[in-house]
Amino acid sequence: MAVIGAGAIARDHVTALAGVPGVRLAHVVDRHPERAAALAALAEGATWSTDPATAWSDAVDVTAVCTSPESHADLSVAAFAAGKAVLLEKPAALRVADADRVLAAAKKAGRPLLVAQTARFQPVHLDIAQAVADGAIGTPRLAHLTWYTGHVWPGGWRGWQLDAARSGGHVAHNGVHALDLLTWLMDDEPVRVFARPCRTWAPGMPTPDSFQILVRFAGGALATVELCYALAARGTFVRRLMLSGTTGTLHHSSEDEPRAHTAQPVAPASIEGAMAEQTRHLRDVLDGVAEPLTAPHQVRAALAAALAAQLSADEGRPVDVKEVC
Ligand SMILES: NC(=O)c1ccc[n+]([C@@H]2O[C@H](COP(=O)([O-])OP(=O)(O)OC[C@H]3O[C@@H](n4cnc5c(N)ncnc54)[C@H](O)[C@@H]3O)[C@@H](O)[C@H]2O)c1
Repeated sequence: MAVIGAGAIARDHVTALAGVPGVRLAHVVDRHPERAAALAALAEGATWSTDPATAWSDAVDVTAVCTSPESHADLSVAAFAAGKAVLLEKPAALRVADADRVLAAAKKAGRPLLVAQTARFQPVHLDIAQAVADGAIGTPRLAHLTWYTGHVWPGGWRGWQLDAARSGGHVAHNGVHALDLLTWLMDDEPVRVFARPCRTWAPGMPTPDSFQILVRFAGGALATVELCYALAARGTFVRRLMLSGTTGTLHHSSEDEPRAHTAQPVAPASIEGAMAEQTRHLRDVLDGVAEPLTAPHQVRAALAAALAAQLSADEGRPVDVKEVC
């Protein structure tokens, strides 16, 4: 694997790679040479460069695009044009038309695209997805997703995360995790969204720290999403998911886990290990024994819903997803 963009998430990918036999880090690219060199130093034999084209050289089977979102589409298209498989960080692109270019390039190259919607690989979500697939609740009709996290700043966010032109906006670039998860679990596509942003803990920040999204799906199902990165106690997690269907209900709350009540906050076991699981899945995709869990129509639907939610939050009105397509 070659990694382009040697920042925080790339380090997580490289750490996960070290534990998954069958894939190894061969090369790192970053526009900052010291970042590329530092990341490459974590894997024996890995080389580094500041030239993006070296991320899809002959020595590479899969290019992991881990840059900030504004370059995701162009870098992925170039990697596919060189015949590489692509692991693409979320959000896949900043416009639906750009995601369409990526999907078309993957199809033309006949190479797999896995979008790093890492929430899918959290143990609780894999379990719930399996239960839904096994028919435990019939057809999903209602979802309620709550992800509350201890505050991430000061210090946690910087640069592109605070610049909507580069990130897509907070509702888009973090909301896409939740909207992708629901698109997958509900096996349906969002058609209309209404989002409200809030500055709860850090009123001076240039971006809202929290938001809510109401979602209507094509088949008439509804979802409520609550995301917050501003719980007063840093490191705290409160995660809940309720999925109700025509014949049953599934429910999970991190508050039911023993770790939720320890003195020092720790991530709930229900969400741990996702990066390693995603990396094992990528290896299986490269080996040809699995299809990418993020199917192309879901990549497009989740991104479109996230961009529509951002527009809704910005303009204070419900938005039909087709407005951004
Ligand atoms: N899947 C997840 O759970 C998850 C978690 C965190 C971040 N992310 C995503 O990962 C991506 C990166 O986030 P991050 O927190 O690692 O950011 P970061 O700012 O820490 O790192 C990005 C790196 O990319 C480099 N870069 C940017 N554009 C480049 C270009 N065109 N060519 C070469 N290098 C370039 C920067 O110099 C920087 O070192 C974002 O899209 C973000 O949304 C995903």
